[in-house]
Amino acid sequence: MTTQGSADLVIVANRLPVDRVTLSDGSRRWRRSPGGLVSALEPVMRSNDGAWIGWTGVADDETDPFVDDGLWLVPVPLSAGEIEEFYEGFSNATLWPLYHDVVAKPEFHREWWDAYVRVNRRFAEKAAEIAAKDAMVWVHDYQLQLVPQMLRELRPDLRIGFFLHIPFPPTELFGQMPWRRQILEGLLGADVVGFQLSGAAQNFVRLVRQRVGHKTHRDMVYLPDGRTVQAMAFPISIDTDGFEELARSESVTERAAQIRSALGDPELVLLGIDRLDYTKGIYPRLRAWSELVADGDFSVKDSVFVQVATPSRERVEQYRILRDDIDRLVGRINGDLGRLGSPAIAYMHSSFPRHEMAALYRAADIMVVTPFRDGMNLVAKEYVACRYDNDGALVLSEFAGAANELRQAWLINPYDINGMKDAIVEAARAEPKEITRRMKAMRKQVRENDVASWANRFLEELEAARPSHSKKLRPVR
Ligand code: G6P
Repeated sequence: MTTQGSADLVIVANRLPVDRVTLSDGSRRWRRSPGGLVSALEPVMRSNDGAWIGWTGVADDETDPFVDDGLWLVPVPLSAGEIEEFYEGFSNATLWPLYHDVVAKPEFHREWWDAYVRVNRRFAEKAAEIAAKDAMVWVHDYQLQLVPQMLRELRPDLRIGFFLHIPFPPTELFGQMPWRRQILEGLLGADVVGFQLSGAAQNFVRLVRQRVGHKTHRDMVYLPDGRTVQAMAFPISIDTDGFEELARSESVTERAAQIRSALGDPELVLLGIDRLDYTKGIYPRLRAWSELVADGDFSVKDSVFVQVATPSRERVEQYRILRDDIDRLVGRINGDLGRLGSPAIAYMHSSFPRHEMAALYRAADIMVVTPFRDGMNLVAKEYVACRYDNDGALVLSEFAGAANELRQAWLINPYDINGMKDAIVEAARAEPKEITRRMKAMRKQVRENDVASWANRFLEELEAARPSHSKKLRPVR
């Protein structure tokens, strides 16, 4: 058993919630990443001497632990080889496609698995070192599925939670994984294993019964040593109030008007914003739009599709192929259908700060979100949060976790191009009353379920999971 540290709440995630930026004078700073996760956890971390363990995103970065804006951040180094084998390899070319319905073919390499085990152990050892006695440790996402078990072996006193941000595959697909049993056992080190959807939690429990042979009942797994593990759904959300406030600000309002005018003040603006990832269904979405323009349902004179694709995992082959495919498709569509000053698609391969995202959401009449498979899809929720006038239509894939909650979207199947075209036409021609009715209901949903309530629910479950542990988190000051 490792000696304990002093943090009462430890977050373990592949990435730290900061990026290193170089200022114009050449000095280097940390900049807080825009994600909702850190803003949701910040208050509870501050009240509980919280620490966040993660990778800085840079190879061989041996930065010592540091405090940034009141948060204790603890870097875990990855070598260039580990970035290739653990991050680009096992995490993003094995697990990512396998867990997303095998949309791309997962690659199984034994050296990648070895790197995954090695890096997971490094994270677990770091958590064991800094967690106080009886502390809570919350491990995040598919890159770190072995950490719960490794950490429990080092520190049986801890309460350990795990949350998977991406889908958990059906039992038939998970069965392909050569190290399926090790992964299930890794997750079983946690007291609470959280998923986006209850179907995923059920897949996990079924797999544990089939592949590991433990007794299960509903959402509980009973281990031979008497410990229990609970598998539950906790659908993640966004900082709803923060987005709405930003959307209402004068500068975002002005910027949204500028965006529409830069687009030539069209009557209809459609918008897609995605990480450039093959799970996001960008290709069929743009094809559907191009057919609608070619068929004469819409004209480039008064409508445009704005597609933002955020660069992502650019050294992984499948992502490179996708980028070329989308570049080619957009070029062909604009070449065939665009007019001078009026492209069919305004395409940007770049990432934008929250402020610009909010302005884009404000500027768009229809948001089109069409993943083949997506754990949740926060972009859909962000769009809803920004539409405070109860206008704007959402076209949403039924294969995004968000479709479970945003039932009033125009739900589509991204494999069905005609169905997608019909939904876009319907959304574009819908009466304002109909749009308002749908948006109001969706807004109620994201207002009542924001990321802070998600985090609180998870931490409360984790506190309740082992009543024999008297230690409770201190309430937010
Ligand atoms: C998804 C995953 C996260 C990941 C993010 C960005 O949302 O669930 O764990 O951090 O994508 O991907 P990246 O590979 O850049 O960390």
